[in-house]
Amino acid sequence: MGRSTVTDRPAGDETPIVPFLRIGPPPDRTRWEGWQQWRRIRDTFIPAPRLSLQEYLDLSPRRRGLHDLHRTATHVNMRLQETPMSVRVSGLMRGRLQNNAVKFMPGTRDGLMVNGGGFQGKTETACSAAAAFEDLWRAVCQQVLPDQQPQIPGTRDVFVPVAYCRLPVRATPKALCKTILDVYGDPHPKNLDDLIRSVRDAVRDHNTTALLIDDVTRLRLHRGDDQDTLDLIRELMDLNVTLVLIGAGIPCSGLLRGAYVDLRTRQWVFPDIKRGKSHNEAASTQTERRFDMVDLDPFDYSTPAGITAFLDHLAGIEDQLRLFRSFDGMLTTGEMPEYLFRRTHGIVGLLRRLIEDGCTEAITSGEERLTPELLARTSIRLGNLDDLDPEAGEVPEIPDGVPPPQQKKSRRPRNTVFDDHGGKPAADG
Ligand SMILES: Nc1ncnc2c1ncn2[C@@H]1O[C@H](COP(=O)(O)OP(=O)(O)O)[C@@H](O)[C@H]1O
Ligand SMILES: [Mg+2]
Repeated sequence: MGRSTVTDRPAGDETPIVPFLRIGPPPDRTRWEGWQQWRRIRDTFIPAPRLSLQEYLDLSPRRRGLHDLHRTATHVNMRLQETPMSVRVSGLMRGRLQNNAVKFMPGTRDGLMVNGGGFQGKTETACSAAAAFEDLWRAVCQQVLPDQQPQIPGTRDVFVPVAYCRLPVRATPKALCKTILDVYGDPHPKNLDDLIRSVRDAVRDHNTTALLIDDVTRLRLHRGDDQDTLDLIRELMDLNVTLVLIGAGIPCSGLLRGAYVDLRTRQWVFPDIKRGKSHNEAASTQTERRFDMVDLDPFDYSTPAGITAFLDHLAGIEDQLRLFRSFDGMLTTGEMPEYLFRRTHGIVGLLRRLIEDGCTEAITSGEERLTPELLARTSIRLGNLDDLDPEAGEVPEIPDGVPPPQQKKSRRPRNTVFDDHGGKPAADG
């Protein structure tokens, strides 16, 4: 951040420190307490007010510094927007979670797999659909069973309707069980059988109706662990929960080995192959387990409907920006939309990163607007890649060396300063 600082606070100025900052690490959604915290605050961010340049200049230097900080917070906390792709996924997911939650007979619940490339919004779309389900489900349970929602940490009966976890890179079946137990803060038994039993107990005792396993394609599916892993997935499907598996490239990952598509319902079916022992007696009456697979795709710029959806998304972003020299249609008119599409291939997460960093540059340089030329100087940085598994398709290819559109009419040779995009963009800044 370039211009002003927040330290030039006049003596005696007791104006409260800005309410938009949150102190401490972001909530860890993979623990039930963190998930609850996130669920409650997820839509509460208040964007910076829209000031004109004059109003801004009229502020005290300290106020200006705070406003710049608030603008920056606004640019890095842009809300999730509905896209035709996310609506499809979240609609299917909420429907499935609700249907299964009100089903009171024991037995396998149809599951859901959310498939798509890295940074296409799988995690955020699935989490917000699950949170919306939980909002509703808690309200219902509150009315029906007012006494059954004690939230006393450390007690066995904490109500955890949604459990969300992510697999570590190259996870084994044991690691998957431990990851699930960590949601509840439960201890890890030593061997796989006991681990699976503990998972089953935890899911039952906490009244979990939805179990989300993110980055499931990180499960190691090499010879040795193959059988264990597939057996484990089957075990999980036999818990009385809606299992939601989220991953990049699920169809090619080996997770579907042994499954086939039922052409009538278009569901994936895992036939009941009685290998090994089941940890769940009720499951022995089950014959097969069914999944719907839903893809979360990037924007498509090749059809009128696809272009409209992309432009709508850009308009939604533009509305959230707080740059003093922005103008109506800054992102949606002229060469900009196509340029943004070429830079990001329509991948929602890459677009967000590009806009975030472009805004930082626009504020620091004082340009206060986004142009293709400014964005051409901005490389897309994905943050901490240690967290991602490139082998599992979680790191999208970032289009490289996309030149900004040439100025029409200009006969002069174009400024080639920005043409050198050699090499990969820096991994992190
Ligand atoms: N519908 C959306 N609108 C705006 N931003 C989105 C949307 N979906 C995802 N994002 C952003 O894109 C980035 C990548 O999303 P994420 O869910 O982590 O992708 P994935 O799990 O597919 O790798 C995140 O910063 C997220 O906030
Ligand atoms: Mg993800």
